[in-house]
Order: sequence, then structure tokens, then C-alpha cells
Amino acid sequence: MAQVLHDSLRKKGVGGFDKSEENLMKQLYIDNLPKHIALIMDGNGRWAQKRKMPRNVGHKYGAEALKKIVMFCNEINIQILSVYAFSTENWRRPKTEVDMLMKLLIEYLQREIDLLNRNNIRLEVSGDMEYLPVEVRSAVQKGKEVSKFNTGLILNVALNYGGRDEIARAARQIAEKVKNGEYNIQEIDKTLMEKHLYTSSLGDPELLIRTSGERRLSNFLLWQLAYTELFFTDILWPDFDRIHLLEALCSYQKRERRFGGI
Ligand code: IPE
Ligand code: IPE
Ligand code: MG
Repeated sequence: MAQVLHDSLRKKGVGGFDKSEENLMKQLYIDNLPKHIALIMDGNGRWAQKRKMPRNVGHKYGAEALKKIVMFCNEINIQILSVYAFSTENWRRPKTEVDMLMKLLIEYLQREIDLLNRNNIRLEVSGDMEYLPVEVRSAVQKGKEVSKFNTGLILNVALNYGGRDEIARAARQIAEKVKNGEYNIQEIDKTLMEKHLYTSSLGDPELLIRTSGERRLSNFLLWQLAYTELFFTDILWPDFDRIHLLEALCSYQKRERRFGGI
């Protein structure tokens, strides 16, 4: 009989859950949790607007929500959490908002890296770092460096990330290698493509969660999500907590994944 999440956490001495969280954890089998979860953290702006506050306040609370979800994913032994932090299309926002998002990213990386490190969490990034402000790049570099030997959760932050750009970049790199004679054209297949994606060492997510009621991918992990289970919730990102994650996991465990078979 497979072990349920509740018993496994109790054995580890992890506690502090309320009744409804416990109820969900009693329904979840630890051998059928997704290894890799992708997360589109959406709705920060609307969360703030609902409270008559500037959008940036929503981003601040969003960062707090992320911190808690990261810790929880680590506790329940999720292996990889890929979070969409800034898309290649988010540059279209007003400069003041973009600047504030960059500032928050730097703060988050600098402030939380010790906590991530203490909890054995490894930082990774996906996206084009070249055009990001130098402070963001150095915070990322430092975070990756100090956490590189950690063996717990991999927190993969998608930063200046776009799925179409990622695929075009992979094609460009492969074309270059064909030109140099490293590969011949017949060798180009999906495995080779995957080797040239940002996520080459991470594999595909089994579950994608998007908050805020939008039901689209917004250019996130287009290649990797081909057979991923999708979970959409109306909760705005700053309100998303453990219970919502547990609900998504329960929904995931009820699904039958067929991958084109029967
Ligand atoms: C998600 O929240 C955070 C980022 C895109 C960086 P939004 O800022 O998109 O919030 P809404 O969708 O406008 O409410
Ligand atoms: C997706 O959210 C990007 C991130 C969460 C970073 P957006 O708010 O940018 O997506 P759209 O514009 O609603 O599709
Ligand atoms: Mg949005």
C-alpha cells in the first residue's frame, strides 16, 4: 500500500498544518507526486488593484507567496519547481513597473538565498540573461554558485524567458553545430532539440499550475508542456498557499495520463 503524504511528513516531523490541509494530505500518495511542477504566478496586479493599492504591492506579496510555496515543495520532496518570473513579453509593461520587478528580483535573490541554501535548495535560471540589468545577473550568478551542490528542490526561475525564443535559440545553436560538422542534418531530432533548451537537465513538468483565472500558456515552456497536465485556478497569485497547491496535486493524482496510448 503506497504511503500517503500526511504519514510521510509526520514521520519526518514536519508539522504546522491545519485540518483541511491534513485532509488533503491524507488523500495524496507520495509515489505519484509530480517530480517537476511548472508555475505561472499570475494576478499580482489585480490582487493589488482590488485593494486599491499600486500593482507593485501585489508583486511584493507575490514574492512572499513564492517563498512559502518553494519551502513547501521542498518539504514534500518535489524535485523541480519552474516558476515564471518575467517573460520576454513583460518588457512591454511601463518602465516603472519593469524597473520595480527587476528591483524585487534582486532583493528576492539576495534576501532569500541564505534561506534557500540552508534548506538544501538549488537555484537555476532559464531565459536570456544577456539583456538583464547587471545587478540581476550578478545576483543570479551568486545564487547559482552558492547553491550549486545542494541536493534538495531545484528552483528554476524563468527570467526574461520566452518559449518561442528558447526554441529558436536551440535551432540556431544546432545550425551552428551542423555548419561546424559536429552534427549532420539527419541527427536533428527531438532529443537533440531538448539538449539545447534551457531546461536540458530538468526534463518536462508533469503538472502546470496557472493562477488568476487566465487559461493560456503565455509563451511558457512551449516545448516542455507537450504532455503536461494543466491546472487552472481563479486564486490570484499572492493568495496562493499550501492548500491550493495540495488541491492541484489532488487533481493531478486523479488524472489518467495516456501520452497518446489507450
Ligand atoms: C504576474 O502578475 C507577475 C508578472 C507577470 C511579473 P501580473 O503583474 O501579470 O498581474 P495581473 O495579471 O496584471 O493581475
Ligand atoms: C505571464 O503572465 C508571465 C508571468 C507570470 C511572469 P502575464 O500576465 O505576463 O501574461 P498575459 O499577458 O496575461 O498573457
Ligand atoms: Mg498577468
